[in-house]
Amino acid sequence: MLINLFANSKPLFLAPMAGLSDLAFRRLVKRFDCDVTISEMISSNALVYESEKSLTMLEKDKSERPFIAQIAGSNKEIIKKAVEIINKEENIHGIDFNCGCPVNKVIKQNAGSALLKDLDNLKSLLDIIKTNNKVGTTSVKIRLGFNECEIEKIINSLNELELDFISIHGRTRAGMYSAKVDYNAIKLAKSLAKTKIIANGDISYENHQMVLEQTNADGLMIGRNAVGNPWIFSQIKGKFNEINKSEIILTHFEFMCDLYKDYACSLFRKHLHEYSKGLANASEFRNEVNKINEPKIMLNTIKEFFDATNY
Ligand SMILES: Cc1cc2nc3c(=O)[nH]c(=O)nc-3n(C[C@H](O)[C@H](O)[C@H](O)COP(=O)(O)O)c2cc1C
Repeated sequence: MLINLFANSKPLFLAPMAGLSDLAFRRLVKRFDCDVTISEMISSNALVYESEKSLTMLEKDKSERPFIAQIAGSNKEIIKKAVEIINKEENIHGIDFNCGCPVNKVIKQNAGSALLKDLDNLKSLLDIIKTNNKVGTTSVKIRLGFNECEIEKIINSLNELELDFISIHGRTRAGMYSAKVDYNAIKLAKSLAKTKIIANGDISYENHQMVLEQTNADGLMIGRNAVGNPWIFSQIKGKFNEINKSEIILTHFEFMCDLYKDYACSLFRKHLHEYSKGLANASEFRNEVNKINEPKIMLNTIKEFFDATNY
């Protein structure tokens, strides 16, 4: 059944982030009014050849409706097989294609943002996904270009396909993660596109209204500013009541324990670093949690630190 991603006006998406937007984090942001969640990038190759491990990346929480699976790759046959694997899963409402990843290992395989250099190839891959996709929406996540902004050419080319939406990270591949985000380029994309446009890149509680007005985008996608700050979606919707943030962090850790068992402590450290940013004695706290591998000790240490800071 095709689920309407745009049932809420200007929906808020959690950006796919390998190593961060896992099931535990997505489960948490769903408690804070995030509308659409997307899996971490899944290599189509891995899905086809090491299916067991990659299939776990398709696991989702029942609160994730809609939930979109993101795949990456460049081989037509393998992408078709990956889509067929996803078709067999339940409760996946769309397939997104990664055309933004800037990492060399991915670029060397002509995948991720490398596809922005060969738009005919990109179109044929998206066509395969769309033709074989039985779960729901087909979308693509792009950057503005590879070395320079070529958004006009990219959107004109994607207009030949009937995609359900396009998410745009407002930087080129050369801009990696730190160049200034070009919201005017997203505005241009929106004016040209025949489908919905989701704006992405450095969106925060403070600038979200400005980004919506400047780009005229149909929705917003938030990545790094949700890490250490999962309540950002409720804040944007004006629904966040100042509740005890330390309880939220403990809930997040519980979700991590459910998912990763013995590995939860080590994997939760990067989130704790973000949660504690700017707080008094944060560096001592980080040094301490870096040594903890026992969930009960971790739980008490988290509670003690955040309760003491009145967080
Ligand atoms: C650690 C990390 C992992 C990422 N993994 C993915 C990914 O798997 N798929 C994807 O399309 N983008 C990925 N991205 C890019 C984000 O989805 C997003 O486009 C980018 O971070 C800009 O948005 P932000 O400023 O809101 O973080 C990743 C970004 C980061 C920081």
